[in-house]
Parts: sequence; C-alpha cells; structure tokens
Amino acid sequence: MSKENKDYSKYFDFSGAKVLSEDEHGKRIRINGREINILSEPNHRQEKQRGKQSVEVLYDTELTEEFRSIGAGKHYIVYTYGCQMNEHDSETIKGLLEQMGYRATEDRKQADIILLNTCAIRENAEDKVFGELGHLKHLKTEKPDMLLGVCGCMSQEESVVNRILQKHGFVDLIFGTHNVHRLPHLIQEALFSKEMVVEVWSKEGDIVENLPKKREGLRGWVNIMYGCDKFCTYCIVPYTRGKERSRRPEDVIAEVRELARQGYKEITLLGQNVNAYGKDFEDIQYRFGDLMDDIHKIDIPRVRFTTSHPRDFDDHLIEVLAKGGNLVEHIHLPVQSGSSQVLKKMSRKYTRESYLELAHKIKKAIPNVAFTTDIIVGFPGETDEQFEETLSLVREVGYDSAYTFIYSPREGTPAAVMEDNVPMEVKSERLQRLNAAINEYSRKSNDRLLGSTVEVLVEGVSKNNDAMLSGRTRTNKLVHFEGSTDLVGSFVNVRITDTKTWYIKGNMIQDAVTASDAV
Ligand code: 5AD
Ligand code: SF4
Repeated sequence: MSKENKDYSKYFDFSGAKVLSEDEHGKRIRINGREINILSEPNHRQEKQRGKQSVEVLYDTELTEEFRSIGAGKHYIVYTYGCQMNEHDSETIKGLLEQMGYRATEDRKQADIILLNTCAIRENAEDKVFGELGHLKHLKTEKPDMLLGVCGCMSQEESVVNRILQKHGFVDLIFGTHNVHRLPHLIQEALFSKEMVVEVWSKEGDIVENLPKKREGLRGWVNIMYGCDKFCTYCIVPYTRGKERSRRPEDVIAEVRELARQGYKEITLLGQNVNAYGKDFEDIQYRFGDLMDDIHKIDIPRVRFTTSHPRDFDDHLIEVLAKGGNLVEHIHLPVQSGSSQVLKKMSRKYTRESYLELAHKIKKAIPNVAFTTDIIVGFPGETDEQFEETLSLVREVGYDSAYTFIYSPREGTPAAVMEDNVPMEVKSERLQRLNAAINEYSRKSNDRLLGSTVEVLVEGVSKNNDAMLSGRTRTNKLVHFEGSTDLVGSFVNVRITDTKTWYIKGNMIQDAVTASDAV
C-alpha cells in the first residue's frame, strides 16, 4: 500500500466524484453511481522522480492458501498490447491466475475475468484499448459478475485512469506495472467489495522474484532489468516503468539454467535498456558484458537481447558478443533519427557520427552481424534535411529491418510541449519514403543469402500454407520450407532458394552447418 499519494486533490481530477471515506489505506469515492476504492492512484510527478533509495529485492512471494481456490472452476483471458516486456508481464499475470485456480479460455462468454495488459507508447496503442473496452461493455452488461481489469503502462497514466473512472465505470480493476504481484489481493478485494479497485504505485520500484510464469512456445523471455532512466524527450516509458533496476546476476543465471534444463532452445534477455544492466549495483562491478559472458557458458542454443541503447554499448560487450556460440549475430540498436540535431532534441545523448562509429566497430568485430533498429519520423520541428539524414544513415548502416513510427505526442513528456510545425501529410510521406528504403535493404540482405545454408529453429507450420514449416535464423530472419511437423522445436539446415522482402524460402538439407555458415 502506497502512503506516498496523500494529497489526492492535487494530482487527480475527481470532478463529479463524491468522497465516501478516506483514511491512510486510501479513499472511497462515488462517480456516476459507481463506488470506487482507490488504494493508490498514478502520480505523474512522482513517476518522474529518481531518488537515491536502493532497490529492494523481494523473494518471499509464495501465494498463501486463502488465494489458491478463488479461481477454482473459473476461466480467464489476458489480452496483451505492446512490447515483449508486456508479453512477459502477461506470462506472470497468467501464472498468478493459474495459481489461484483459474484456467485459460479463448471464449469471452466463458471468461470470469478478462484483463487488458496495455501499452502507452503511442496514441494509437491507447485508442485500441479504449475501442476494446467499448466492445467489452456489452459483455459486462450480459455478465455482470465477470471481472474486467486494465493493467500495464496505460494504468500508470493519470489521464487514462481519470477517463476510465469518469466514462468506463463498468471496469472492476485497475492496477499498475509495479503492482502485478498484488493481483491476487486485488482480485479478492474486487470480488468481495463489488467496487472498482484502483491500485497504481508510482514508487521507484522493487524487484519481485519467484513469481510464477506461464510460458508458451520454444522461446523463453527473461527479464534482466526493469525501468528506464534515459528520459528520451518523446518517451513515456521512464514514467510508466520506473527507475532502472537490475536483477541480481545469480537470479538471472539461475532462471536461464532452469530454462535450459526445461529444453528451451532460445531465450531473449529483456530490459528497456539492457546495456545499462548492473549500473545500479552498489556492491559489485558486474555489467551487461559480464552477464553475457556468463550466459555464453550455459548450454542453451540461442541467446538474444532487447533493447539496446547505443550510449551504453561498451567495448567489453562487443568483445563478448564476438565470441559467438549461443550469442547470436543479431543486434537491435534503436537509432531513432539520423540527424544529430534531432537526436539532441530527443535527448538521446549520442550523435549520428558516434552511432555510425559504434555500428562500424560492431561490424568489424562481428562481420556477419544483422542490425535492426527503431526510427521515429516527424519529431517536432524535423526539417526535410534532417529527415534526409535519417535516410542516408539507413543506407549507410543497411539495416536488415526496422520498426518505423510517426512521432506521437505523449502527455507529460518534454517533447509534447515542443513546437511542431510539421504537417501530418509530410510526416506520413516521410514514413512511406523511409519504409521504402528499409524494404530495399531488407530485400538486399535477404538476396545475399541466396544459395547459402542457414541454421533454422523450426517454430511451427507456416501461417499461410499448411504444407510449409517456418522458423528463424540466428539473425532472426523468417524462413519457410517443406518438412514434417515432427521437426517443430528442432534445428535444421536450410539451403536458400528464393528471397522476398519479408521472408526467405529454401530446401531442408541434411549436412550440418558450420558456425561460420550460420546466419
Ligand atoms: N512516438 C512515436 N514512437 C515512439 N517510440 C517511443 N515513444 C514514441 C513516441 N512518443 C518508439 C521508439 C522506441 C520504440 C519502442 O517506440 O522508436 O524505440
Ligand atoms: Fe524510452 Fe529512451 Fe528509455 Fe528507450 S531509452 S525506453 S526510448 S526513454
């Protein structure tokens, strides 16, 4: 329970609300006839703060008996929006629900609880969630006993929680990114009180270990750190995810070893900025390069990581990645813009030149490396010339693929109040030109593979053709080929015969690939 949010009226717009009671445990209010129990609400000012308070790691998170039967005979659905961090949080949410006795369903009519794990990174991500809430309102009318919850990054935003309180009073539960482990308590509270329960901590964040996870598929995600301290001027993440805090190396390594033991073929180490791993340790000198070096020795075939910040990508890490083995030759290195002036306004803390120098250094150390990136067009005030610099950087690096976005203002971030004189048509046109350039280089990088043999981790039957299997190369390229479904989950060698922009095709062969062939 947060004791931080004392002066509610200061931060929160309770217009139209009647206060029913208030004490140190929170506040009960009524809005439009709906009673709401606010245990704690988002507080943007606190989300911005980065104090000296050290990170606490909680290990004792065993669910007690009283919670284990709440969901017996009941069903759940969790809808996930946004990034891999959210996907992974959903695995924890599902793990907790299953410990409470709930079982998964895909049928909304059968569900006793539906949770929306939301993303706040761009406005269209939020629009999708509000659209979905509109659909779920009908279901809630038919099934009033069903619990409907909103969690994830949107619930950390004051404006979103206000909007739900005022206009979507049929929601039963709102909890934040720091409150996932509290889910059993919050469900219990919502079921018994029949009130809407809101608990969103803005605190700098603990690390909660040993929560259950319901993992699916061949690829396992492992959080190595949480939060972000970079405060890029366009980005909401430092507010919604709290300060940078790293999991202890022994906990990460134990989890990776356990996944290896369970037969996972690939893991992805997750963090908003994995290169800052370990910066917050006060008692040990142990950084991301050291972690990768230790994980390199674990018997798991492929190890990926996301996402990197160019600023913290140090030489030791490059040296370790160059060892290869299970450390694959794929680096996602978000650049955001090719113009040093725009990068400065974004507060990225590197220049076009230093980014290119880093990319060349990595290429020299890992010659067959595949780079992917994130790029924003139409940042406030971006000129044609500055956009051209982004295009020329794309050509110079020759990315294998990229996620590209039109800048979306996020309330409370510094960029949201910058003057923006770039019309939307210009932004859209820039996005199209950028995508055309990215596609050209994706195709070129695929074409270079023609005739070569690649190692593919077989993921399943191809989405568009039952007769084909699909899988990924070490560089994360999608490959389609004919083969038996028995091969799902194993590694095969595929000789590439045909290439497209988004995928490559080939024939399975028997002879083994050598490490240097493996791309
Ligand atoms: N508008 C557009 N794109 C954004 N991203 C983050 N914030 C915004 C925003 N306000 C993009 C960045 C980041 C990726 C995850 O999302 O490119 O790397
Ligand atoms: Fe957002 Fe920048 Fe942090 Fe990435 S590094 S999460 S873009 S603030």
